[in-house]
Amino acid sequence: MRDRKAVNLREEFNRWAADGRGEGMEQDHLPIALPVLEKMRLGAADNVLDVGCGAGWLTRRLARLAPDGRVVGMDISDEMVRRARRASLEHENLLYVAGEVAEIPWEGNFFAHAISVESAYYWPDPAAGLREIFRVLSEGGAAWVLINYYRDNPHCHQWAKHYAMATHLLSGEEWAEQFRKAGFVNVAHERVVDASPSPEVYTGRWFRDAAQLRAFKAEGALLVRGVKAGLSDR
Ligand SMILES: C[S@@+](CC[C@H](N)C(=O)[O-])C[C@H]1O[C@@H](n2cnc3c(N)ncnc32)[C@H](O)[C@@H]1O
Repeated sequence: MRDRKAVNLREEFNRWAADGRGEGMEQDHLPIALPVLEKMRLGAADNVLDVGCGAGWLTRRLARLAPDGRVVGMDISDEMVRRARRASLEHENLLYVAGEVAEIPWEGNFFAHAISVESAYYWPDPAAGLREIFRVLSEGGAAWVLINYYRDNPHCHQWAKHYAMATHLLSGEEWAEQFRKAGFVNVAHERVVDASPSPEVYTGRWFRDAAQLRAFKAEGALLVRGVKAGLSDR
């Protein structure tokens, strides 16, 4: 692993995994991930990478959507990977690897899609991560990064004080620029509104109250996408 920041990140997310937080994220992230899965229009034989896969709930969904492809979940936390593997024994087209996004342990030009949900703002070097995703995508392949913590949504800025690790609070346009610098074309960003029901009363620590949670969900998550041009597009 490259540096101290990455080691700290792994240790922190290993703690999250041991506390069962990996499995709990499905409930929060599924409402924003489902519209992205529709946009991806996966082919049955597509190879797909899930970067920062956590406990693997999305990776298993991807494996069902691409039954003839190879689906790989990758995460910096070996404890997340261990739990994801344990919950995925029945899937033959799915495997998990431990690794940091800036050094993806996989050959180049392999995946038709790479998706990452609620992970990219933790990456110590987002530009290096996007360059690596570009490397492992095949020509014509697409990257999809979905995050809830970004500058254009003021209702998430208070999260910074709860994080034990360094995070990046970039705008949609700044993320898009990072995609372009990594080599992607057809780069675009959009909002994915979370239409799931909200509680009348909020007692957690991430939002001031139920009204702020509703405002946050109405702003929506940020989806940034880009394509690795094929020879015919150059
Ligand atoms: C908030 S969790 C989201 C997990 C999963 N995508 C989900 O939606 O449930 C963020 C995940 O990204 C992983 N992660 C953070 N930084 C990473 C990096 N630099 N390389 C690979 N994985 C990373 C963490 O270990 C953690 O499992």
